[in-house]
Amino acid sequence: MRIGVIGVGRIGRFHAQVLRANPHVEKLVVVDRDLARGDAIATALQAIAAPSVAELLTQVDGVVIASPTDTHATIIEQAVRAGVPTFCEKPVALDLASTRRVVALVAEHHGTVQMGFQRRFDAGYIAARHAVQSGALGRVYNVRIAGHDPAPPPESYLASSGGIFRDLHIHDFDIVRWVLGQDIVEVYAQGAVLVDDMFTRQNDVDTIAGTLRFSSGALGVMTGGRHNPLGYDIRMELFGSKDSVTVGWDNRTPMHSLEPGMPAAPANAYPMFLDRFDAAYRAELEMFVDVVAGRAENPCTVADAEQSLLVALACDRSRELHRPVMIAEIAA
Ligand SMILES: NC(=O)c1ccc[n+]([C@@H]2O[C@H](COP(=O)([O-])OP(=O)(O)OC[C@H]3O[C@@H](n4cnc5c(N)ncnc54)[C@H](O)[C@@H]3O)[C@@H](O)[C@H]2O)c1
Repeated sequence: MRIGVIGVGRIGRFHAQVLRANPHVEKLVVVDRDLARGDAIATALQAIAAPSVAELLTQVDGVVIASPTDTHATIIEQAVRAGVPTFCEKPVALDLASTRRVVALVAEHHGTVQMGFQRRFDAGYIAARHAVQSGALGRVYNVRIAGHDPAPPPESYLASSGGIFRDLHIHDFDIVRWVLGQDIVEVYAQGAVLVDDMFTRQNDVDTIAGTLRFSSGALGVMTGGRHNPLGYDIRMELFGSKDSVTVGWDNRTPMHSLEPGMPAAPANAYPMFLDRFDAAYRAELEMFVDVVAGRAENPCTVADAEQSLLVALACDRSRELHRPVMIAEIAA
């Protein structure tokens, strides 16, 4: 099989390495707007460097898009029109109109576009979904989700990030929908700037809390932020009528109990997403190779990405207006 990678920066380089190690991938083709970077990665991975996205699309059976967010919609369109099955890093786009255009285009062309919400491939979240679906958890009452980054990104990144809900918590919205098998119908979100004044300058916040109401009536609370001195803390707790379970709690979780006799904070706590979700990133691309080969169904569609975006936009509006917001209000 021949696979292309478009954009070999932070995450694209990792994806290219993972694909290089996949026994089904015989030929790897990369392209980067920075041609020297593309050449260097191609040499390091015994891949071929293409001169352009259009040229790459003529040489591959499937393509991974890992270029910056503002390029995703255009490149997805190119790939879908070329009939090339596509994996795209999240998000499709930061605005609803562009996302919906892509959703419509993919449907019209019967295209395959797998979105990179890697938490769906994490063992803990898979087990949580199973606990809900099998009935082992019973009726779901409450969900608690935490998404805490270790350190803020640079201000230049914030300017085009779409804000904390679309940039960081979009992963929480996708995974909680997937684990519960339910939609979020209403949110009430608050934000504060407690870490760095650059967030105020960018009309963004660095610390959030909020509530979520699900279609079954279950209630969720979320917390998150851009600074956590102990590391990258991504967790979920589910409280049901038969069991209570947690995801993301292991001996590298950047949290420690103050009860007597409990261990100190781990010295090797997860520093960032590539460590925390290493196995999940590998598994999502393994699945993509199976999707390209026709052995598997697309596990995460552009329509799923639209739903998470709606929740993030509802949180933005809720924070601005200081009131609960129905998702239907944003979707209308
Ligand atoms: N799923 C996740 O957890 C996760 C984690 C990190 C990043 N991401 C997403 O991945 C994407 C890339 O993020 P990153 O941190 O790797 O960015 P990055 O800036 O490190 O890398 C982007 C690369 O794309 C290249 N590029 C820019 N425009 C291009 C174009 N038109 N064609 C080809 N190459 C182009 C750049 O030169 C650069 O090498 C973003 O959309 C981001 O949201 C997702």
